[in-house]
Amino acid sequence: MKKRVFVTRVLPGPALDVLKQKCEVEINQEDRVLTKKELMEGVKGKDGLLCLLTDKIDAEVMDAAGPNLKVISNYAVGYDNIDVAEATKRGIAVTNTPGVLTETTADLTWAIMMAVARRIVEADNFLRSGQWKGWAPCLMLGSDVYGKTLGIVGLGRIGKAVARRAKGFNMKVLYYDINRDEQAEKELGVTYAPLEELLKQSDFVSIHAPLTEKTRHLIGERELRLMKPTAFLINVARGPLVDEAALIRALKEKWIAGAALDVFEREPYVPEELIKMKNVVLVPHIGSATVETRSKMAMMAVENLLAVLEGKIPPNLVNPEVIPKLGLK
Ligand code: GLV
Ligand code: GLV
Repeated sequence: MKKRVFVTRVLPGPALDVLKQKCEVEINQEDRVLTKKELMEGVKGKDGLLCLLTDKIDAEVMDAAGPNLKVISNYAVGYDNIDVAEATKRGIAVTNTPGVLTETTADLTWAIMMAVARRIVEADNFLRSGQWKGWAPCLMLGSDVYGKTLGIVGLGRIGKAVARRAKGFNMKVLYYDINRDEQAEKELGVTYAPLEELLKQSDFVSIHAPLTEKTRHLIGERELRLMKPTAFLINVARGPLVDEAALIRALKEKWIAGAALDVFEREPYVPEELIKMKNVVLVPHIGSATVETRSKMAMMAVENLLAVLEGKIPPNLVNPEVIPKLGLK
């Protein structure tokens, strides 16, 4: 009998057709996030769940799925939306999509970093609204990026890809991570700094850490006050890594010069105060959003899911503790 799979949203590319050839697939056809009730209804009795970072997968959802559920395949590199400890306890494999989105997310980091430094969004609005009266010596003066100091918080795959791009801009790159990476220091020419030092010295601070209980509000009032008044904060990782209320105060009271944000504490809610500020660039969680990457992520999520259902160790297993229990080879 074909395995039964629930997919919480239509994904781009051919991946779902591949999945349909192998499994009995039920896909949410509405282009919106499912309510918890709908999610629990959809997953009932299924062997596999392919979900998004906007789906909160907790014990209640796993209960609703029942004992058949073997795999939760997340269509994202971050998996803070899933209660992994609970899944592990129940012998359910959790998988993610690392790697494929690294360069795409690093590109976006640079796009919004450059945009905030050179006031691109503000300048575009200015021009479109008919306010441009001609070249002027003091029009839209921004900050240089090249030659400045970039502080990378979290030197994982994405952090490293951001660091590589900084070379072309002749930047000094500092990084902070719970693990010091001497090989990366040699290869990328980056310098380790304790978080406080990094915050004090950097002109651009870019966050690339996963969200865990330990990293929640990693950047709060104390950290923002350490930054230079001319510095910018960039976050393309997860909203709750930054204390948003403290950031709003930092921007209002000019502890820092600006921010570029792809992620927010309570998405899709974005505080009105941020929306009103000119020195922030705001984009709607689009770090991995290219045609190429989102299609590859879908394929990867499907491959991970199929592997578990076929009794194989999936390429991107988050909780290897489940291998013996599931008898994966
Ligand atoms: C996107 O935020 C992801 O984690 O893939
Ligand atoms: C995610 O891809 C990371 O930076 O490790």
